[in-house]
Amino acid sequence: MSIESIVVRRPERLRGTVHVPGDKSISHRAIMHNAIAEGVAHVDGLGPGDDVKSTIRCLRALGVTINETAENACTVHGRGLMGLAEPEDVLDARNSGTTTRLLSGILAAQPFLTILTGDASLRTRPMDRVVEPLRAMGAQAMARCGDDYLPLAIRGGDLHGIDYALPMASAQVKSCLLLAGAAADGTTYLHEPAASRDHTERLLAAQGADIEVDGLRILIRGRRPLRSVDVTVPGDTSTAAFWVVAACIHPDAEIVIPNVGLTVGRTGFLDVLEMMGADVSISNKRVVGGEPVGDITARSSRLKGATIGGSLIPRIIDEAPILALAAALAEGETVIRDAEELHYKESDRICVTAAELSRIGASIEERSDGMVIGGKPHLAGGEGDSHKDHRMAMTLAIAGLVTDSPVTVLEPRSVAISYPGFWNDLARLAGG
Ligand code: S3P
Repeated sequence: MSIESIVVRRPERLRGTVHVPGDKSISHRAIMHNAIAEGVAHVDGLGPGDDVKSTIRCLRALGVTINETAENACTVHGRGLMGLAEPEDVLDARNSGTTTRLLSGILAAQPFLTILTGDASLRTRPMDRVVEPLRAMGAQAMARCGDDYLPLAIRGGDLHGIDYALPMASAQVKSCLLLAGAAADGTTYLHEPAASRDHTERLLAAQGADIEVDGLRILIRGRRPLRSVDVTVPGDTSTAAFWVVAACIHPDAEIVIPNVGLTVGRTGFLDVLEMMGADVSISNKRVVGGEPVGDITARSSRLKGATIGGSLIPRIIDEAPILALAAALAEGETVIRDAEELHYKESDRICVTAAELSRIGASIEERSDGMVIGGKPHLAGGEGDSHKDHRMAMTLAIAGLVTDSPVTVLEPRSVAISYPGFWNDLARLAGG
């Protein structure tokens, strides 16, 4: 297996059970929230990807003791809301936007200087969205290019609550400000333009924070100590989406994905696939670690096009590339709109999805706020570049399971950001 590229061929059948790794969003939070709590927490089911490792590395550099107790399990020794230690060097979040933005909220309350940087991709992603409100709360923060790009320097201080309307539906910005608000004097009021994932709110509430959620309005009264909470992380919803779509678009498929997180802020792709006529069912619904969880079964389906926009967008923000692939093989046209935020992900996912899926035969027109996809019965295959974006690598790989000729995925190692075992699971399910 070459490491510069991996070739994926269509198997006759696609069947089996796949246990996806622990949810990336919840893993980051389980570690960060417990790092600023009182006591020791045990976290298991942690996502094994590089992004979660970045969070662990940065927090260790900030004086937090995190001991790995087993594979994907650790203990986190809390240091209290304002008890982190000044790092000796610049912190490198590598590819992880969640590490950077959520940690910024925590650092805004620490009375010392931290400089955050990241890899070439992260250094082009917008940070003014956290710099501006954190300054309004009383932190000193500055970044490159008009305070927008990493490196970002934060000297934390005595924060006070603010009343802030988020300009975009972003769980990372919301979470950053809730973590800052937890350590601020007074109350922080946030207003979201549309609902985004709510893992931060759930975990803060479980930790005893004084937080209230009323539709799109959230308030947190600061300076209440947070309790350490043990977390069992469910399977990653966004990762499960790749296997769900794989089953739907393959002509002879049935894939079971047990133990997947199903909080409403993440399940927009299931709603979209239902609109498209997919054969997907959920069983064994339960609550694990304060999060709704279930087992997903997906089967070969006859998909039709759909219109995806408005409040659905934050709920499919990470699944847009794989939904675009489903749409490329559906009957009729699919429109994705109101999705400007896709420009600012690990790659520009409007531009890269349209370009790379077109290279393997899809009919996709790029729009400034999304794309228009003309469905076709078959895709030709060919070469596709992940642009070092984990979700693009997995989208192209899933395409290779159904294209007429194989798909060669360039930069395939990027899957390690969220799913290091992806290529092994793919080979197993495809019977390779
Ligand atoms: C995340 C929020 C989303 C998502 C990202 C993870 C989170 O980003 O795309 O993969 O864990 O809060 P935005 O908040 O920037 O939309």
